[in-house]
Amino acid sequence: MGRAAISSTNSQFVFPRWANYLLPGLLLALAVAVIYVPVVVGYGLAPQALAVGYRPIQPVPYSHALHAGELGIDCRYCHNTVDKAPFAALPPTQTCMNCHSMIKTDSPKLALVRQSYATGMPIHWIRVHDLAGYVYFNHAIHVNKGIGCVTCHGRVDKMDVVAQVKPLSMGWCLDCHRAPEKYLRPRDQVTNMTWDPVADAGKDQLTLGLELKRKYNIPDATFMTSCSTCHR
Ligand code: HEC
Ligand code: HEC
Ligand code: HEC
Ligand code: HEC
Ligand code: HEC
Repeated sequence: MGRAAISSTNSQFVFPRWANYLLPGLLLALAVAVIYVPVVVGYGLAPQALAVGYRPIQPVPYSHALHAGELGIDCRYCHNTVDKAPFAALPPTQTCMNCHSMIKTDSPKLALVRQSYATGMPIHWIRVHDLAGYVYFNHAIHVNKGIGCVTCHGRVDKMDVVAQVKPLSMGWCLDCHRAPEKYLRPRDQVTNMTWDPVADAGKDQLTLGLELKRKYNIPDATFMTSCSTCHR
C-alpha cells in the first residue's frame, strides 16, 4: 500500500509530452513581459521601493542602535541567512529570548516578545525595504563579493528605528554595477559599519577596489548592466 503510493508519485517525475512545448511557452511569456514592463512603468513607480526615509514604527520598540551599536551584536547573529540565501531572514522570537529570558524579563516593551514566545505566533515586523517583484535581488552574492551592509542600508547601528536610506531604484543599482570598485571591501568586513579603506587596508578605495574586483572575479560592466541580470 505504502509502496504503491510512492511509485505512483514517482511516475509524476517522468516528463509528460507537453513539456516539449515549454520553450515556446517561455518565449511567449517573455514577449508578454516586454509589453508588461512598460505597463508597470505607466502605472506608477512602486512608491514604496523609492521611498528614501520610509521608517515604519515597529510593533516592538527594538533598537538596532542599542543591540547592533552599543552591545555590538553582529548583524549575522540575527540576519543569519544574509550570506547564504537571496533573503536576509529576520530573527525568530527564540533569538530574542536567548537573552530576554534573563534580561529585562518584566519590561512592558518586551510584552509582545514574551507573548509571541508563549503562543508560538511570530511577531509581525513591518517590512521597510521592498523591491518590486519584477526585479531579482540576492543578498548572498553581494555580501560574499564584498559589498558591506552599510553601503546599501546606511548606519543601521545608529538607528533606533530602521529607515530606508537609499532609493533602491534601477539607477542606484546600475551606478554600482557599472563600477563596483567604488564600493568593494574585503569579505570579512561586510558587517563592519565603520570600515575605512585607508585606515584599515592602507589603500585608497579605487586601488583596493580594483584589486578585489579581480580577486573576486566580478564580471565586466556589460554583464553587470544587462537587463537579464536583474529582470529574469
Ligand atoms: C538582535 C537581533 C538583530 C541584530 C543584531 C541586527 N538586526 Fe537588523 N533587524 C532585526 C529585527 C528584529 C528587525 C525587524 C524590526 C526592525 O525593522 O527594526 C530588523 C530589521 C533590519 C532591517 C530592515 C529590514 C526590512 O524590513 O527591510 C535591516 C536593513 C537590518 N535589520 C539590518 C541590520 C544590520 C546591517 C545589522 C548589523 C549592523 C543588523 N540588522 C543587526 C534584528 C537584528
Ligand atoms: C545578546 C543579547 C540580546 C539579544 C539577542 C536581544 N536583546 Fe534586546 N536587549 C539586550 C540588552 C542587554 C538590553 C538592554 C537592557 C538594559 O537597558 O539594561 C536589551 C533591551 C531591549 C529592549 C528595551 C527594553 C527596555 O525595557 O528598555 C527591547 C524592546 C529589546 N531589547 C528587544 C529585543 C528583541 C525584539 C530582540 C530580538 C529581535 C532582542 N531584544 C534581542 C540584549 C539582547
Ligand atoms: C547591494 C545592496 C545591499 C547589501 C550589500 C545588503 N542589502 Fe539588505 N537589502 C537590500 C535590498 C535591495 C533589499 C530589499 C530586497 C527586496 O525587497 O527583495 C534589502 C533587504 C534587507 C532586509 C529585509 C529582508 C529581505 O531580504 O528583503 C534585511 C533584514 C537586510 N536587507 C539586511 C542586510 C544585512 C544584515 C546586510 C549585510 C550583511 C545587507 N542587508 C546587505 C540591499 C542590500
Ligand atoms: C554597491 C554596489 C552594488 C549595488 C548598490 C548593487 N549591486 Fe548587485 N552586484 C554587485 C556586485 C559586486 C555583484 C557580484 C557580481 C558577481 O561577481 O557575479 C552583484 C551581483 C548582482 C546580481 C547577480 C549577478 C550574477 O552574477 O548573476 C544581481 C541579480 C544583482 N547584483 C542585482 C542588483 C539589484 C537589483 C540592485 C539594486 C536593487 C543591486 N544589485 C545593487 C554590486 C552591487
Ligand atoms: C542592476 C540591476 C538592474 C539592471 C541591470 C536593469 N534593471 Fe531595470 N530595474 C531595476 C530596479 C531595481 C528597478 C526598480 C524597482 C522598483 O522600483 O522597485 C528597475 C525598474 C525597471 C523598469 C520599471 C521602470 C523604472 O524605471 O522604475 C523597467 C521598464 C526596467 N527596469 C527595464 C530595464 C531594462 C530595459 C534594462 C536593460 C537595459 C534594465 N532594466 C536593467 C534593476 C535593474
